[in-house]
Amino acid sequence: MSRSSAKGKEVMKDKREGERGAGDSSDSYSDTDALDSRLENFPYIEAFGHKYHSSGKIFLAFDESERERCEVQHKLYRHSLDGALTSTRLPLDTTRILDLGTGTGTWAIEMAARYPQAQITGVDVYPIQRRKGVPPNVKFEIDDVENPWSAADDSLDFVHARSIAGGVRDWPALLRQACTKLKPGGLFEMTEISIHVCDFDGKFAEAELCPEFLQLFRDMSERVGVDFSPSPRVPEWLVDANFEKIVQRSEILPVGSWAQDEKMRTRQKLMNSILNKDYVLENHCSLLFQTCGWTKEQFDALVPSFWQEIQAAQVRPYVTAVFTTARKPREEPS
Ligand SMILES: C[S@@+](CC[C@H](N)C(=O)[O-])C[C@H]1O[C@@H](n2cnc3c(N)ncnc32)[C@H](O)[C@@H]1O
Repeated sequence: MSRSSAKGKEVMKDKREGERGAGDSSDSYSDTDALDSRLENFPYIEAFGHKYHSSGKIFLAFDESERERCEVQHKLYRHSLDGALTSTRLPLDTTRILDLGTGTGTWAIEMAARYPQAQITGVDVYPIQRRKGVPPNVKFEIDDVENPWSAADDSLDFVHARSIAGGVRDWPALLRQACTKLKPGGLFEMTEISIHVCDFDGKFAEAELCPEFLQLFRDMSERVGVDFSPSPRVPEWLVDANFEKIVQRSEILPVGSWAQDEKMRTRQKLMNSILNKDYVLENHCSLLFQTCGWTKEQFDALVPSFWQEIQAAQVRPYVTAVFTTARKPREEPS
């Protein structure tokens, strides 16, 4: 069995695990779904064997490995929200939804089933969205979400952005655009998994594991102008963009083998599955490390120390999923 099919099998197993309790009835995305014909000649640059956008500004790969990883991550997010698709409670009359960096489009498609009256648009730089089972109230557009959006001002009910941090240069500008395009009273939600790996001591701890690797990652991200962990600064940017009712909520995602109860064990299994070398490390690091002058051999030599530290017996490592929600102020009665 090839390395990629062996990995695929492991992922499918983890997907089934993650589905329990997630309340998700949709089919799993797989590359047996017909791919968009635009992918055939889609220009790309390659880093350590992974494909990235030809602009060089999106530090998130789009090959099969990354598409599979996003599906597992989607299960993990749903599981962390007890099966829900959003952290914020959306009004039933929500009609216009924009999903920034929609990826394979799975979230948009599942939202369409939950909100059949809504029109959902998913935007991404890559034409990697599912082709099968796309309901009529979902459409996909290929664009950079940092460009001006086609939606009219004051027209959207909900703007959603999940795990797009590796492709955004100017968060304050993006959030200002979100506020402009939302209707008064419209809602915004952004979700990211933090890159800090901490040691759980019964509460949210500060002690960071793998500090050398993570510092290197942060330094390189700064050099290329991307912030893979924007969540701590998002509330301040939301205030500046004129949002109100800003709420941030974190969920622990255990890594390794220490979680006790079934709920946490499921999260841990999904998190382990995406935080391995082939997935999050290669897909998020290859272009970054290559741009900063590393060779694949140097990168491959560095990664085992990261895992050794994480898997050390005495620690209970975790990362966090951070859900940030906000509202555009309602119109003042005149
Ligand atoms: C890790 S995937 C997450 C996909 C989806 N949001 C989810 O949570 O399942 C990140 C996606 O964001 C897209 N993305 C990142 N920056 C973008 C940008 N500036 N414009 C459009 N898409 C972007 C990437 O192309 C990629 O498909």
